[in-house]
Amino acid sequence: MSGGRVHGWAQDGSRPCERLSVEIYAGGILAGVARADTFRSDLAATGIGDGKHAFSFALPPEVGDDGPIAARVADTEYWLTNGNRHGTANSPRPGRGESISPDWARALTGDSEFREEQAMLGHCWTLLGITPDLEKDGDWFRTTLGGRSVFVQRFGDTIKGFENRCAHRFFPLRTCDKGNGPIVCGFHHWHYNRDGHAVGIPNCLELFGTNPREVGAKLVALDIATCGSLVFGRFPGGNTSESLEDYLGEGFPILDAMCTMPKHPQRLNGQIGANWKLSMEITMDDYHNVAIHHKNRYAKNSEIAYFRFGMHSAHFTGHDGTLASMSVACRENRYIPSDYRIFNIFPNLAVSIFNARPYWFCHVQLFAPASPSQTRHMTWLFQTGFPAKERALDRWTRPFLDVIRAHLVRHFTKKITDEDRRACEQMQKIAHQFEGSPILGAHEKRIEWFEEAYDVAMSRGQATIDAGRQE
Ligand code: FES
Ligand SMILES: [Fe+2]
Repeated sequence: MSGGRVHGWAQDGSRPCERLSVEIYAGGILAGVARADTFRSDLAATGIGDGKHAFSFALPPEVGDDGPIAARVADTEYWLTNGNRHGTANSPRPGRGESISPDWARALTGDSEFREEQAMLGHCWTLLGITPDLEKDGDWFRTTLGGRSVFVQRFGDTIKGFENRCAHRFFPLRTCDKGNGPIVCGFHHWHYNRDGHAVGIPNCLELFGTNPREVGAKLVALDIATCGSLVFGRFPGGNTSESLEDYLGEGFPILDAMCTMPKHPQRLNGQIGANWKLSMEITMDDYHNVAIHHKNRYAKNSEIAYFRFGMHSAHFTGHDGTLASMSVACRENRYIPSDYRIFNIFPNLAVSIFNARPYWFCHVQLFAPASPSQTRHMTWLFQTGFPAKERALDRWTRPFLDVIRAHLVRHFTKKITDEDRRACEQMQKIAHQFEGSPILGAHEKRIEWFEEAYDVAMSRGQATIDAGRQE
């Protein structure tokens, strides 16, 4: 949005050549329809079709440019998300945060609300684990998705995921966090193949009067996709056409480049006595650093750049490049880091990059919801493959200093995450008293974006925002 015009782009990932019409709403009223068929070089450069998917719409003069503006693909429920690029954290508008639903905190304390929420989120691409844990054929790990126990397993070159529940009498197939071996249920020894079909049923003819194939028992399979070393999954259902690559949009090449992990990344796992959303939101809050992390001053708006892409957002320190330029550089394998950056991937993933002189480290944090007031915090910490400003001395001392550096990075990361955890746990204690919308300042803007994405996921049961946004 600039100078009374709404800019953006829209493309249907499943029909990339089609031009879409976009309805522009101002203050909830249809202000007009724009055709998304204008060429924009950054779209072409980031692989959005032929780049002819942009639109620019002049708001009628009677519409002020400070009210809420929304846009959706005509005759669909695909709402475009707001603003990919904000050069700085804009100066605050009064009342920011009011677009957050007053119900935003319901699932923080209510069991049934939490279950409902998780069932919906189970259809969003969610980080389940990492490929170094699935190195050998038959390796598997157990985790949760959408409030359900699931497991992910390597079969040769492919990675598959299933709900952790036997089709016979619902015994859990995997009863510990990781292992290796075929899928054999511990209750009556039904044996499942890589497609989740029960292919071995003891005494089948005698007991079921037929062969296993006729019994036709089958596990619930997940959609699985990877990005770098990250393994994502979701429950199929509703609109499942969006690939992980489309879901992450410009973030895909970035995560792909950042999250190529060594065999043994450091792990800092723990339990947080607070709702996952509080933990996620504190990673999008640049206002708490003085009070919670004892920084000596508040950041200026001009020191931070925020970006929004699909359901997700990013914070860049400094103004060296944009999300789009970083995405292209990562895709072309020529990205050179310059500053701290964090990427918050909806629903519950935060990936940051930071410098531990002279090398660049990556911190992957997953806030896996366990109950309304409990979150499993899974984190991986490792040195990235991005080029560092290495001097000869660094190279010589590296074998020795790497050990110390890894230790310091771990210590520092743990200190920060513990401070965040304690703050979230304090909030959780009175979460049943959270009523109405919070008041958000310029450095909390991404929380508003996150809650908007959350509303979209809740109202549709899945993340169906296709590529699209306003600027
Ligand atoms: S419950 Fe799994 S084999 Fe019976
Ligand atoms: Fe923090």
